[in-house]
Amino acid sequence: MKIIRTVKEMQAASDTFRKAGKKIGFVPTMGYLHAGHLALVRKARGLADIVVASIFVNPIQFGPKEDLARYPRAFERDRALLEQELTDVLYFPDVAEMYPQGYSTYVEVKELEDHLCGLSRKGHFGGVATVVAKLFNAVKPHLAVFGQKDYQQLKIIQRMVKDLNMDLEIIGYPTVREEGGLAMSSRNAYLNADEREKALLIQASMKKVEELFRGGERKARVLEGEARRVLTSKDGIDIEYVTLCDPETFHGLEEVGASALLAIAAKVGKTRLIDNTVLTEP
Ligand code: PAJ
Repeated sequence: MKIIRTVKEMQAASDTFRKAGKKIGFVPTMGYLHAGHLALVRKARGLADIVVASIFVNPIQFGPKEDLARYPRAFERDRALLEQELTDVLYFPDVAEMYPQGYSTYVEVKELEDHLCGLSRKGHFGGVATVVAKLFNAVKPHLAVFGQKDYQQLKIIQRMVKDLNMDLEIIGYPTVREEGGLAMSSRNAYLNADEREKALLIQASMKKVEELFRGGERKARVLEGEARRVLTSKDGIDIEYVTLCDPETFHGLEEVGASALLAIAAKVGKTRLIDNTVLTEP
């Protein structure tokens, strides 16, 4: 596996792959890799000739009160894991390479930002869209794989690609979970044993809503209420939002129609966790 640290070298490598007729698959990450990230790499491996993964903890997607400074990092371990997955290139730029002095261009996907996580994390998705656009310009992939765990992020990237006529395909990949059902996340590293146990209520609340939905319940208020009831059945979970909304526009629903996104954000101790599931008419 080749490690590349500059935009110029990355672009040159990708030009060479493209000239040789190779299809480039890309998986952007912030590192501290877990089985969810590796499943995306495997997906890309199956779809492309060349797999590029990136590790970059993107400062501009963190708010001033967020966890940028303590975001977990483990470069050597990540490198070994990516090598095991037969990754061809690890793109690992530093902050000065991505945002040199005088940097001043930002991408905003307006319509989809003012919902769900965008409400409490002002500027977050602009930071994500900007870095992903820059990574795409460096890696020049034919396709890129993103996790459905970050559902709003996936939809924002898909919209950016469509709106800016970017010439690549965005592929969504289902959420990979730990044995108890907790969605894998680099931030799970912050949880102690007690918090980990409480975090399981997130998946339990989604299961409850799915069960009621299968039983015919369609009122968003009732379904959201049940999710809240499960989440607050133990002390220690601070709900940020429990929302049933349109899976494409994120507009709130009163009645669930053919499909709806159930999205949850909650703090367990100091750790903010998100999860979601799409309810679809059987
Ligand atoms: P990060 O949180 O490291 O996630 C990288 C990719 O892995 C994202 O596409 C995310 O949705 C996916 N992912 C994370 N946990 C997952 C899980 N349990 N199952 C399936 N996929 C999972 O998301 C980011 O980094 C950043 O915002 C980034 C897109 C790299 C831009 O900085």
